[in-house]
Amino acid sequence: MVQLPSKDQKEAIEAVLLHNNKKREEGKCPLAFIVTFGCQQNEADSEKMRGLCDAMGYGRAKTPEESDLILVNTCAIRQHAELKALSTIGRYKHIKTKNPSLIIGVCGCMTAEEHRVDELKHRYPYVDFTTPPSAIGRIPALLDAVLRCRHRYFLLNEQSDALEGLPIARTVPHRAWVSIMYGCNNFCSYCIVPYVRGRERSRARASIVNEVKALLAGGAKEITLLGQNVNSYKSDVDFPTLLEELDGLEGEFILRFMTSHPKDVSSRLIEVVAKGKHIEPHFHLPLQSGSDRILKEMNRHYDKKRYLSVASALKQAKPDIVLTSDIIVGFPGETEEDFEETLSVVRQVEFDSVFSFIYSPRKGTPAAKMEEQVPPHIQSERFARLVALQNDIGKEKNMLYEGRAVRVLVDCLSKNDPEIYSGRTDGGKLVHLRATRDDIGQFVTVHIERAATFELFGSIVK
Ligand code: 5AD
Ligand code: SF4
Repeated sequence: MVQLPSKDQKEAIEAVLLHNNKKREEGKCPLAFIVTFGCQQNEADSEKMRGLCDAMGYGRAKTPEESDLILVNTCAIRQHAELKALSTIGRYKHIKTKNPSLIIGVCGCMTAEEHRVDELKHRYPYVDFTTPPSAIGRIPALLDAVLRCRHRYFLLNEQSDALEGLPIARTVPHRAWVSIMYGCNNFCSYCIVPYVRGRERSRARASIVNEVKALLAGGAKEITLLGQNVNSYKSDVDFPTLLEELDGLEGEFILRFMTSHPKDVSSRLIEVVAKGKHIEPHFHLPLQSGSDRILKEMNRHYDKKRYLSVASALKQAKPDIVLTSDIIVGFPGETEEDFEETLSVVRQVEFDSVFSFIYSPRKGTPAAKMEEQVPPHIQSERFARLVALQNDIGKEKNMLYEGRAVRVLVDCLSKNDPEIYSGRTDGGKLVHLRATRDDIGQFVTVHIERAATFELFGSIVK
């Protein structure tokens, strides 16, 4: 592999900017296209990539075909996500053939896996560089190097704090992701995240508080604190104290956070959420499985009893709380009895919604080597039963909103109807409503007229 010249980030940004300014003088405005797969953490990382591209003088491309730079931010959580990213990258081959000066960079969790980097190196010769999530701050240095010598670069997974202080171009001005920590130490036996995003690193309290203050001053109405396990945030303060401090800031805003780990939810956190002025009445609490035996195999460090006690403490502290979860079906060794345990927790807790996943073996994780992998037809059958049960529960929970007036932050035009906008309740439920362009980014009171399984419908109360 060719060594990446050690240029510092600022110098590299300036070098690429100079190059792009020259192109602009020649009458060609260089454009960048960023495509994002995966979770909110990836969305937040892409906003940093966009911030870097803006600083380097790239305009925004509407299509990959018109681009001078394409950045693909990949996800590795399940095989399906990786295959989707690879097929997208595959489609860029013909664009590069037509336009050989196009630069293609692949970033995100997939590029922290050695076997995928090897694959990109050998089977995708039109990819110019790869960089794992911990090193997106090195994108300017990579671009500068590619522009000067057209070598290919494959950065290895490195743990760096280079994410601090990167420029961020927010996609929507009223909504902001704020990463409070990176990485994960939990090593759930099915999960690739600790391998691709590295060990936990918490950002300094003051840096987070200042970022949130600046966002609120700039008009942000929704702040979402992000981390793989926000409950284990640790700097000079812990997560409940950080949340409490942010909740004390002035302004009209909603403070969201994700994801929580049932083993780390403290009674103090529940108290802070219950008392919160700005904190969302919503808790995303991944269950993964309701069987104690499977939870042990998953290395989750809680059992069904502990999970149910956290869920009931949350409901007691805040009766209107919206509870959501993640569940994996068909984990190795899962029997019909284990799966029934999961269904029984779903019935008991009555989640508002659940993200259900079929277990996907991830190379390098302990679960991928476990015997007794569950056959696909049984996985699919269990998945369908879980989804059917949760859909009934979700619809019933949503119907409780019919006739109620709720606060909604209006987001954007709905995808299907040009007259309908969409927004979210404080608890995070999706609402479709009749509104105007001026309502985008505003809190409005909405009378809920109708509930469906995944959404509510209503109109603004004048
Ligand atoms: N297979 C299926 N689902 C997974 N998740 C994480 N790893 C896997 C895997 N290997 C799910 C978990 C997690 C969510 C983000 O993705 O439910 O909470
Ligand atoms: Fe993966 Fe478990 Fe960490 Fe969540 S807590 S990111 S599931 S290892």
